[in-house]
Amino acid sequence: MNIYRTHKLGDLRAENIGEMVTLSGWVATKRDLGGLTFIDLRDREGVTQIVVPQDATKEMKDIISKIRSEYVIKVSGEVKERFSKNNNMATGDVEVFITSIEILNKSEILPFEISDDANVNENLRLKYRYLDIRRPSMMNNIRKRHDMMMAIRNYMDTNTFVEVDTPILTKSTPEGARDFLVPSRMNEGKFYALPQSPQLFKQLLMIGGIERYYQLAKCFRDEDLRADRQLEFLQLDIEMSFVTMDDVMEYVEGLTKTVFKKVTGKKANYSFEKMPYHEAMSRFGSDKPDVRFGIELKDLTPMMKDCGFKAFSGVANSGGIVNAIVAPGQATNFSRKVLGDLETYVKTYFKAKGLAWVKVTEDGINSPIAKFLSEKEIATLLSTTEAKVGDVILILADKAKVVYGGLGALRLKFGKELGLINEDDFKFLWVVDFPMYEWSEEEERYKAQHHPFTSIKKEDMEMFLAGDQMDKVRTNSYDIVLNGFEIGGGSTRIHNPEVQEKVFQQLGLTEAEVKEKFGFFVEAFKYGAPPHGGLAFGIDRWLMVMLNQASIRDVIPFPVTNKGQCLMTEAPGNVDTAQLKELLLESTFKENK
Ligand code: AMO
Ligand code: AMP
Repeated sequence: MNIYRTHKLGDLRAENIGEMVTLSGWVATKRDLGGLTFIDLRDREGVTQIVVPQDATKEMKDIISKIRSEYVIKVSGEVKERFSKNNNMATGDVEVFITSIEILNKSEILPFEISDDANVNENLRLKYRYLDIRRPSMMNNIRKRHDMMMAIRNYMDTNTFVEVDTPILTKSTPEGARDFLVPSRMNEGKFYALPQSPQLFKQLLMIGGIERYYQLAKCFRDEDLRADRQLEFLQLDIEMSFVTMDDVMEYVEGLTKTVFKKVTGKKANYSFEKMPYHEAMSRFGSDKPDVRFGIELKDLTPMMKDCGFKAFSGVANSGGIVNAIVAPGQATNFSRKVLGDLETYVKTYFKAKGLAWVKVTEDGINSPIAKFLSEKEIATLLSTTEAKVGDVILILADKAKVVYGGLGALRLKFGKELGLINEDDFKFLWVVDFPMYEWSEEEERYKAQHHPFTSIKKEDMEMFLAGDQMDKVRTNSYDIVLNGFEIGGGSTRIHNPEVQEKVFQQLGLTEAEVKEKFGFFVEAFKYGAPPHGGLAFGIDRWLMVMLNQASIRDVIPFPVTNKGQCLMTEAPGNVDTAQLKELLLESTFKENK
């Protein structure tokens, strides 16, 4: 028998009335009422009301008088029917009249109250994360994280996937973010890189004949952080042999539904739509569309080719696009000021040149560009956008990237701000057939959109080999999207060395660079690589969306801030000169000298 407790603090019910019990936990509250003292005692399973009887011994009363919030105590006593029942508490039918009490540990006054109602500054929560975890909502998030991992492991094991762990101290991986480097003491001047993903290892496991691999793998990417990104995050990484893209998607869909049910209690009993990348972009301005609401982009490019507004016709005739979205019923709400703010927003974040607006009124249209449009053009504008009286049409003309970026973001803003999204609704979808390459403005060269091992669509093979329309070549790739978040992504892989070589060539990698970066990998493909493919989920991000949390930090036990700092441990920190010396490194920062 456990000396600390006979029951957990969420256990006791009316059936237990009359039993003698021992309980331990944290003091959530202590109240004195007409000679009786009530303590709400909390552990991870719940709260139980403890009553100190009026006729308690002086010794017991002395102890009680010392007890403060968050003291850890042990009590014994009898379960009785509660005088005033509390239907909001699982244990609300009973209370425990105690006959003994012991303080197991004291607590200083807390920096914040342990309650979901207290509006605590996030930095303070992160500094005292261990206290934050005592709050029911954080406790729930962490336990859901566990449920999620258990559901995953069960599903994968049942489907004969083998969990294989792969190195953390490794070579640079090809996911395209900045690496975290670790100096090697034993190999002067050499560095390990922390894995951005286990991508290369999982493909090597396929060459090794593992056939079905998975891993809950920590990944590290030194990139700018946002509400859905961390430097260090958890992937559910999957790879399979002898499969097509449809096979992988089918497995993953089954897994997704199982995990979703386990975490949210809801069913996603529909087949996930497979939307080609180009369709996602042209309808929603995003490769991870939130399809819980409408407001789709409409193409006005053809009708603007001959219009009198030069900003539009110029773009429409020189390879750009003109697109519109409709803000439903906002003609009176969108003042000049609001419209000006929207324009500033798309100019600032998407480098748009302007934002044209057209209000549809009972007496026709009201717009700064009305004078440039013929009656026929106005009629086409209204029919293409399906705008009604009271609506506002917003138009962008620019390169596709700017138009999709700007209107895609406005669409999301309207969805949220106009209350068009039902927060209890969850919509999964596949976005498929991503382009192989994407043009990098910064580096002025093509880069792999996913990674350079992504296989090319059969239909586009000829175009790929010709190499003259690189941005049109599509891959056997798929992202899984939930409510506007990319929660996972993958592809089937190139298993033919000649095709792989050609991709490296098209990416401008020299033979020496390929050897240096991926020599061991290319070598492995000479020894019989099976056709294979896989996918990785971002566990933290997926959980954040399922639990409707605004920040990824709320589903990670010990996250870092957007500046990459752990406020609790104060990592990253300074290091001793001796440590640096041992690594044959020097620091130019005076703190480290
Ligand atoms: P990818 O780079 O798309 O693919 O990553 C897979 C998923 O990981 C999540 N993710 C992140 N989550 C939190 N913080 C981050 N910084 C972060 N970066 C990515 C996203 C993303 O969908 N090796 C390939 C997979 C494959 O091809 O099989 C890969 O890593 O949810
Ligand atoms: P202007 O004639 O430059 O004053 O522009 C008239 C309206 O068209 C303003 O509301 C501008 O914001 C808008 N506008 C200008 N250029 C563009 C563009 N490329 N795309 C969308 N709207 C634009």
